[in-house]
Amino acid sequence: QLAQIGVTGLAVMGRNLARNLARHGYVVALHNRSVERTRSLVADHGDEGTFIPSESMADFVASLERPRAVIIMVKAGGPTDAVINELVPLLEPDDIIIDAGNAHFADTRRREAALREQGLHFVGTGVSGGEEGALLGPSIMPGGSAQSYEKLGPIFRSIAAQVDGEPCCVHVGPDGAGHFVKMVHNGIEYADMQLIAEAYDLLREGLGASPAEIADIFRTWNSGDLESFLIEITADVLAHTDAKTGKAFVDVVLDQAEQKGTGRWTVQSALDLGIPITGIAEATFARALSGHADQRAAARRAFADAGGTPLAVADRDAFIEDVRAALYASKVVAYAQGFDHIQAGSEEFGWNIDRGATAMIWRGGCIIRARFLNRIREAYDNDPKLPSLLVDPYFAKAVADGVPSWRRVVASAAAAGIPTPAFSSSLAYYDGLRRDRLPAALIQGLRDNFGAHTYRRVDAEGTFHTQWAGDRSESPA
Ligand code: 6PG
Repeated sequence: QLAQIGVTGLAVMGRNLARNLARHGYVVALHNRSVERTRSLVADHGDEGTFIPSESMADFVASLERPRAVIIMVKAGGPTDAVINELVPLLEPDDIIIDAGNAHFADTRRREAALREQGLHFVGTGVSGGEEGALLGPSIMPGGSAQSYEKLGPIFRSIAAQVDGEPCCVHVGPDGAGHFVKMVHNGIEYADMQLIAEAYDLLREGLGASPAEIADIFRTWNSGDLESFLIEITADVLAHTDAKTGKAFVDVVLDQAEQKGTGRWTVQSALDLGIPITGIAEATFARALSGHADQRAAARRAFADAGGTPLAVADRDAFIEDVRAALYASKVVAYAQGFDHIQAGSEEFGWNIDRGATAMIWRGGCIIRARFLNRIREAYDNDPKLPSLLVDPYFAKAVADGVPSWRRVVASAAAAGIPTPAFSSSLAYYDGLRRDRLPAALIQGLRDNFGAHTYRRVDAEGTFHTQWAGDRSESPA
């Protein structure tokens, strides 16, 4: 008997993906650099399906039916290249290597091009949902060739999360498209979490609510427009008590957010493409700020008495509703920006990514799964060329309805000295986007003044330059 698919790299994600495949009736070849992991998987879960364990890469490859499909689940970067280099000499034309880790899409493009030359398919695949998702149904975002998806599609669709009978998996696009979309997913994940953290901070500082009370508020929010996995687990984390001290868990955790880098990649790519993903950028920088402990300590000393005015909340319920509305509006902005980024990447690299389908596969399995992704999907299905999610009629109304709350929250946070970088920058983005005239005109004037960088006029075609140091006459540039 030959295996239909293989997994090499059996740390927790690889192990759970392998088990998920086996539970769905696929015969799964197993390999890991250290054989203990392979053995323990078979010992602990061998009864869940049919596994073919191998100790060497050569035996592993030989245990697979052709065309072979091999999932690599190892650390991004060097370790992935090392496994690819070990695998390639053992493979034959049309075999498929699937990288299911969080690789940078540029690495995926490079690897795909190199392996295509050798007649192999390389499929960079985003997999979201953490450990539990990998086992019970992740959101799967495969890139690579259409031909490879003919074999992989049915397998991936069957092990993916299912929402309303639809699997959370589509062929995102060729070469690096899958990892690009997964990268943006993670960027949105950063923005989502930063917005949640700011809402928590406002409720804690503004209302003086306890973590347990705020957990209840989030629980209530989870039954409305905000319904999502991250809101649900926020309630869970806030309600948790530290066993050692009896304090709220959130109060014993060091307040320095870490990252493995996908948020940073998203911002770097958006800068290259010129897409203002301000919510994701602020979220990434907020993590960076939190990590600069020495600077924070110095600033605390320098500005000890320079805080804001404490928030005086007269109507508790109205304030909670304002924070909820501001959170929702800011969240719509973050997703709008993320989908703009996907569109820009798709155009730059010729991927033809369907944004409606992307929203569809994020409805289940992944970390940012949320009820409103149904609406996002509808928005892009109704108009695949939608210039911004914010102008879709449903979201335009939702955002407009939230604007008064949003302004109140950002204004009172600024007055109270509570930092809300993501709330504030999302509001600024919304105001910038809908503005009739932007002060960018002045910037163009300054650029022309100091560097003859030229400008365009509102009333004539072409570019112009003013003789700032001379007679101030204007001439076509
Ligand atoms: C997912 C997650 C996952 C990511 C973690 C941690 O979709 O399952 O995005 O891929 O690795 O969320 O990311 P950071 O360490 O960068 O916060």
